[in-house]
Order: sequence, then C-alpha cells, then structure tokens
Amino acid sequence: MIGIASDHGGYELKQEIMEHLKERGLEYKDYGCYSPESCDYPEYGHKVAHAVADGECEKGILICGTGIGISISANKVKGVRAALCHDCFSAEATRQHNDANILAMGARVVGPGHALKIVDTFLDTPFSNDERHKRRISKIEEV
Ligand code: RB5
Repeated sequence: MIGIASDHGGYELKQEIMEHLKERGLEYKDYGCYSPESCDYPEYGHKVAHAVADGECEKGILICGTGIGISISANKVKGVRAALCHDCFSAEATRQHNDANILAMGARVVGPGHALKIVDTFLDTPFSNDERHKRRISKIEEV
C-alpha cells in the first residue's frame, strides 16, 4: 500500500499521480487534501508519515508547492526517511543508499510528466542492502 497526500499546492499533481498508480495496478490510500482549498501542509505530511512509520503503508508520496515544508514535516516522525527529489537520479540513489520510505516533490518545481517518472523510479528501485548503507541509516536515528 502506498500512502499519498498533498496540500493545496500539490493537489492537482496528486490527482495525476493517483491516476498513474491506478493505471499501474498499484494500491494506494489518499490521505488528503481532498480539494484545492488552502490548507496546512504539516497535517498531510504527518498523516502519511505516521501511516508509513506504523506499517499501514509500505511507502509514501507527499506533494506540496515546493516539497520542502511537507518533507520537513514528515521527517519529524521517527522511522521516516522522506526524500525530496526532483530528478530520477536522486530518486534512484535515495532508495539504494538511504532506503527512503517517502518521496516528496514540489508541484511548482517539477512538471507532471517528469514527476511520474520520478515516482516510478522511486517505487521500482530496491534498497541496495549494502552494509555501509545499513550502518549509515541506523546512525540517522542516533540523535
Ligand atoms: C503553500 O503556499 C506552500 O507554502 C506550500 O505548498 C509549500 O511549498 C511549503 O513548503
């Protein structure tokens, strides 16, 4: 299950991503927002972050205007590794190296066609399982 959410800035792109996930036959849960009316990105970042941290969702996708506010919010939840990616190289590397469990994007930064490629890259790239990456990931929580 993929958890997906956005604020108003990411609402349109979220709709396109959900359509794409449906076409790919991937299960997703929409955590809002449910209209393009102005709302607060931390609420939606936290919803998907908790769903991923609690194991309700395997991965998450978060969209706001820049992707910054919503990724900062998600990363406050223990166990979440939300990566802000606006290119496929970063999306691939963050899965391989950081085992990122949430992809964040800014709808005002990236076009919809590119965003869907980034989503596919993120979802289709496995974690490398390399010892050095596991060690570094375990150190992230050591603060
Ligand atoms: C909302 O206008 C905007 O601030 C938000 O979508 C996001 O870019 C915040 O980081």
